[in-house]
Amino acid sequence: MSDPLVASEAEPLPAREADTPDTIPSEHAAASHDPVPLYDTGGPEQTVPSEDGAVVEPALIEAPVPDVVVDAGSFGPTGRPWPDLTPPPAPVTHGPAMVIALCNQKGGVGKTTTTISLGAALAELGRKVLLVDFDPQGSLAVGLGINPHELESSVYDVLMDRHSDIREIVVKTAVENLDLVPANIDLSAAEVALVGEVAREMTLKRALAPILPDYDFVLIDCQPSLGLLTVNALTASDGVVIPLECEFFALRGVAMLTETIGKVQDRLNPGLTIIGILATMFDSRTLHAREVLDRVVDAFGERVFYSVIARTVRFPDASVAGEPITTFSSSSAGAQSYRTLAVEVLQRSSTA
Ligand SMILES: Nc1ncnc2c1ncn2[C@@H]1O[C@H](COP(=O)(O)OP(=O)(O)OP(=O)(O)O)[C@@H](O)[C@H]1O
Ligand SMILES: [Mg+2]
Repeated sequence: MSDPLVASEAEPLPAREADTPDTIPSEHAAASHDPVPLYDTGGPEQTVPSEDGAVVEPALIEAPVPDVVVDAGSFGPTGRPWPDLTPPPAPVTHGPAMVIALCNQKGGVGKTTTTISLGAALAELGRKVLLVDFDPQGSLAVGLGINPHELESSVYDVLMDRHSDIREIVVKTAVENLDLVPANIDLSAAEVALVGEVAREMTLKRALAPILPDYDFVLIDCQPSLGLLTVNALTASDGVVIPLECEFFALRGVAMLTETIGKVQDRLNPGLTIIGILATMFDSRTLHAREVLDRVVDAFGERVFYSVIARTVRFPDASVAGEPITTFSSSSAGAQSYRTLAVEVLQRSSTA
């Protein structure tokens, strides 16, 4: 089956000296006969359990719902005019959830930060959101002020025991409407343990099924690899958000990622769509970052979110504080950008 999503992005990226341009595969028609394995069997990239992360009592933080304001029609950071990003009203009833994987095999591009911040911004808009940590680093819990190593159960237990119920391991966060399924270093063993399982790529999908009616969005924070865990996340998802750091090598590896997404579409999950590509860590003061953003927009067009996340120390500061940016620094530009992103995700998911 051809892949309209990936095929629509078929132009090779502009070549630059000292940068091997990636090309986006034009189609995946041959994918089902492709001898290349579906996922990277080299195991996950090195993961390090984080030592910090104080346990907080989940006293609910009810952030006032700020306006999401952009000057529709004026030029935004991607060089295109902002669309109307008036937030849709909060729903009266909840579920079933749309499942979104935050995915890029490149490390440190803002997957975890985006999972937390987008989740918190959707929660502010009255959506019930479940964050699923699918990275043995356990950073999602740490970023929400929860120590992953002090939790009795994690997503690993649900993957390994088909009789366990994911609803029993959900942890409430300090943010209203925002819950977490934590992970810790145990999850690194799952990659190996699942290899011998029947339908090993479907394990997370099966585990998530009972909880979908309770939420509007499930956001899965993937680890930086294209291994079996990430394929599980893609198989369980309706859509993918790809954070891309605005730096020189940002586009390297995107072809491999979209190829993996195409293979998952062909073989396991035909409904999977790329919801959007999110430019992160953008420094508008450097010509370099602006050039990278231009290249990303040239390559992916309308697939690129209008919202762009600026590089600011507020994000690491928020992680250290164990809070989403939307409560840690509610009026900051970073919080506002994730709020506009949340509206874009709502708009794109209602038409997906
Ligand atoms: N917009 C930003 N500006 C500045 N720093 C940021 C921004 N977004 C994230 N960071 C910081 O960059 C680091 C990496 O971010 P993050 O953990 O979200 O990336 P990741 O893609 O999840 O990494 P990994 O691949 O290791 O899981 C963190 O210290 C985070 O606080
Ligand atoms: Mg991460």
